[in-house]
Amino acid sequence: MLDELKSIEKDGLATLEKVASEADLQAWRTKHLGRNSAVMQAFKNLGALGKDERPAAGQAANQVKVALEGALAKRETALKAGRVAQSLETEQVDVTLPGRRVPLGRLHPVTQTMREIRRIFAEMGFQVYRSRDVETDVYNFQLLNFPPNHPAREMQDSFYVEGGSDENPLLLRTHTSPGQIHAMREAVARDPDNPSPVRIILPGMCYRYEQITARSEIQFTQVEGLAVGKRITFGDLKGTLSDFARRFFNPDVRTRFRASHFPFTEPSAEMDVECFVCGGEGCPVCKQTGWLEILGSGMVHPNVLRNGGYDPEVYSGFAFGMGPERLTMLRYRIEDIRYFWRNDLRFLEQF
Ligand code: PHE
Repeated sequence: MLDELKSIEKDGLATLEKVASEADLQAWRTKHLGRNSAVMQAFKNLGALGKDERPAAGQAANQVKVALEGALAKRETALKAGRVAQSLETEQVDVTLPGRRVPLGRLHPVTQTMREIRRIFAEMGFQVYRSRDVETDVYNFQLLNFPPNHPAREMQDSFYVEGGSDENPLLLRTHTSPGQIHAMREAVARDPDNPSPVRIILPGMCYRYEQITARSEIQFTQVEGLAVGKRITFGDLKGTLSDFARRFFNPDVRTRFRASHFPFTEPSAEMDVECFVCGGEGCPVCKQTGWLEILGSGMVHPNVLRNGGYDPEVYSGFAFGMGPERLTMLRYRIEDIRYFWRNDLRFLEQF
């Protein structure tokens, strides 16, 4: 029996040497230390031995078992170490390789323009006033001096929404001008006897129920401006807006004001800047005129001042409205306004 145990051990250790994988190791464990293995069998056979032989044989069987278990544990550790060394070899990281670039998002070109407009007017002391997208007919038209059947109301075909009344329907604002009334009324409510002057810009989305073309969208942004105070003149309007153009386009750009008409301003004017593509010579961008129209403006109509709560005998003001889409198109010579909503990265990534 002792000889037999010796050869069980020798055989076990020899085969363990050849084990090279996790699976082989498991198989070896079952075969050499499992319930039906030779050592385990030897323990079972102890009973058949004589009384005097039994202790020595039992001890020897135990030694073989311990030896095999020890060798197994060693082999397991060695295998693991080998795997780690191997993975260090094959999964090597080359820290000198250049990194992979994380794609960065960016601001929409119109947002960039809006922010620049805001920055320029902030430098001139204008605050940002935010107003609602859903307006009433009263605010969008009536308080702005549009008579009920004024043709300009047809010009701004509107998206009506549920919830209004027959006399005062709800609609998506067709321009940012109704914010003028909100801003004035708020200032008056704060101090009715001596309302503070107003100097605000009002950026926001506007909506018009129109045919979508290369030049007009049903959804677009506007930046409105409003200054109300004592002794504000048309000179202030011209100075402020010309200065804006110089800061936005270039320090030498020339501006001109053309008489125009809006129900809520009197007098009204549109401002042109000298075409920065041809420098005023005439080119396709300015349609050979040398000038580009960039905004509408005027002195706040007395009725509008009154509707805002300001006495037109004491207060005056100017207002203007510009379209960031148009400014962006002029600046980058974008020929179709529909690109702005198309979400095409090939377009957006250029800005
Ligand atoms: N609200 C006018 C428009 O949408 C622009 C404007 C604003 C004109 C303020 C004059 C004064 O066309």
